[in-house]
Amino acid sequence: MTDTLTVLGIESSCDDTAAAVVRLNSTATVLSSVVYGQTGLHADFGGVVPEIAARAHAEKLDHCIEEALTQAKLSLTDLDGIAVTAGPGLIGGVLSGVMCAKGLSAATGLPLIGVNHLAGHALTPCLTDNVAFPFLMLLVSGGHCQFLIANGPDDFKRLGGTIDDAPGEAFDKTARILGLPQPGGPSVEQAAKIGDPKRFKLPRPLLDRPGCDMSFSGLKTAMLRARDGIVLEKQGLTKADQADLSAGFQAAITDVLVEKSRRALTEYLTLRPATPTLAVAGGVAANGQIRDGLQRLCAELGVAFTAPPLALCTDNAAMIAYVGLTRLANGDIDDLTLSARPRWPLDSTAAPMLGSGKKGAKA
Ligand code: KG4
Ligand code: ZN
Repeated sequence: MTDTLTVLGIESSCDDTAAAVVRLNSTATVLSSVVYGQTGLHADFGGVVPEIAARAHAEKLDHCIEEALTQAKLSLTDLDGIAVTAGPGLIGGVLSGVMCAKGLSAATGLPLIGVNHLAGHALTPCLTDNVAFPFLMLLVSGGHCQFLIANGPDDFKRLGGTIDDAPGEAFDKTARILGLPQPGGPSVEQAAKIGDPKRFKLPRPLLDRPGCDMSFSGLKTAMLRARDGIVLEKQGLTKADQADLSAGFQAAITDVLVEKSRRALTEYLTLRPATPTLAVAGGVAANGQIRDGLQRLCAELGVAFTAPPLALCTDNAAMIAYVGLTRLANGDIDDLTLSARPRWPLDSTAAPMLGSGKKGAKA
């Protein structure tokens, strides 16, 4: 095997069809990363429709891969392997990607590597910032919410996670409740800028209980009640009502994430890591108030804080190609019997997560 390895990554586990080419020599370089979103296709349905998502992946994957190769100025013969998300996620979408990768592998003879989507997110700080193990990862998106200690590329310990909705889902549902556009995260954050976070008393679920587990569905119900109260009184929401409710909701989510991060960090620091680091990933990590809260907490505890650039925080195939590269470098590959897995926990010793996110059953 040569010193330089180049891998094509394929991602189709939710509502983004993505392909990327990443090269590893002494460091890893993203040569291309193409993402086709499906937000428009699901807009009328209030959530991701698995059948529509799977069909769109099957239609778009070839074109997406071609574009990733073109942008990287490479052809299939320049590659050393094909990495594909093999789970967890919506099974139809995962199957589309796995079948496509198997076809390419069978046709070219290139090694096939089935990658855990969560490992892709969790190892992104190694790709972007060369972060050293062990580090603490907070994964917060529309489909995931968990604290993981990454001890090594294949060694994760889950400290806790949501027992119902993911924070991104809660942002999206809140936007719907308030009549704000999707995706909800950016529009709630924008509305909150001029809002009073103290006007509505909203719950901070599970803060009264020990541990790092979280819950966000009660917050959504509280938002619904608060909105209905105003609508009953005034027959509608004013801009100020929308702003105050958004600000109150964002403050509640931030308080929960920051306090639970404090607990997760306390547990992580008992490992005495040489370079203590908290890394965040997932679309919700784009939120300025949440980032600021986590950054302040890290400064207080003497821990480095790192957040990959947004394009690599949200679903993408570069993170899948990167995990594929590290596996290929160790000769750890799959064969054509690779199967798609709707559930695939990173920490197989942790209790299964309850609830289901926009990706279907939580990992
Ligand atoms: O990681 P991602 O692109 O997809 C998955 O869910 O896997 O995350 C998308 C989620 C959406 O729920 C979106 O509302 C949320 O991330 N999001 C935000 C912000 N930007 C995106 N949430 C809060 N604040 C933001 N600025
Ligand atoms: Zn994801």
